[in-house]
Amino acid sequence: MKNIVVLVSGGGTNLQALIDAEQKEGLGGGKITCVISSNPDAYALTRAADNGIKTKVLVRKDYPDVAAYSKAMTEALKEEKADLVVYAGFMTILDEQVCNAFKHKMINVHPSLIPSFCGKGYYGLRVHEEALKKGVKVTGATVHFVTAECDGGPIILQKAVEVKSGDTPEILQKRVMEQAEWKILPEAARLFCEDRIEVSGNIAVVKRQQAETVTKAMM
Ligand code: GAR
Repeated sequence: MKNIVVLVSGGGTNLQALIDAEQKEGLGGGKITCVISSNPDAYALTRAADNGIKTKVLVRKDYPDVAAYSKAMTEALKEEKADLVVYAGFMTILDEQVCNAFKHKMINVHPSLIPSFCGKGYYGLRVHEEALKKGVKVTGATVHFVTAECDGGPIILQKAVEVKSGDTPEILQKRVMEQAEWKILPEAARLFCEDRIEVSGNIAVVKRQQAETVTKAMM
């Protein structure tokens, strides 16, 4: 069994999608063992508690700088024996010491089709505001490995979502969450826990299921 630690900062709808997936279809043998929030008031903490999941709070302003905060986070993740770390709407910057300690073991969901509308300053609603300003007709979500480069790590899964006329950032955000994020984030966690993601340089490849496993699943 792989221990999954989920990092959150806000409402936690992506955390909820992971919890629901674990309860319904399973996460490839992975189990959400701890939720760590950068925000003591995050509703995501209530979602975790309601599902009997251990929680921790690490607030950025309790630490003098990013390095000290990142050190505390690395220690917390090691203490929890994290096999997979999932950023699910986690909005606090961590430095490369965390990425190095958990190389190719941390994944992030981002609400656009990377490399569009990503990088420093692109988070939450802001991403959808920029997509609408540009007039794109298709947007979506991406799950990628976390590296020191913001939103620059190997891409695992992407899903496209249509932009409709009359969309507001809020309407578009909801559609992207429902049609893309809440599907591809649990799927990527499952693939990771099944050891089906290979990384070569900056390219992630999802390995096909063994023929035997596919046959069993169909029976
Ligand atoms: C989600 O849309 C997630 O993709 C985004 O914040 C929202 C969090 O919602 N993350 C980023 O923008 C990271 N760059 P949630 O707390 O309800 O899961």
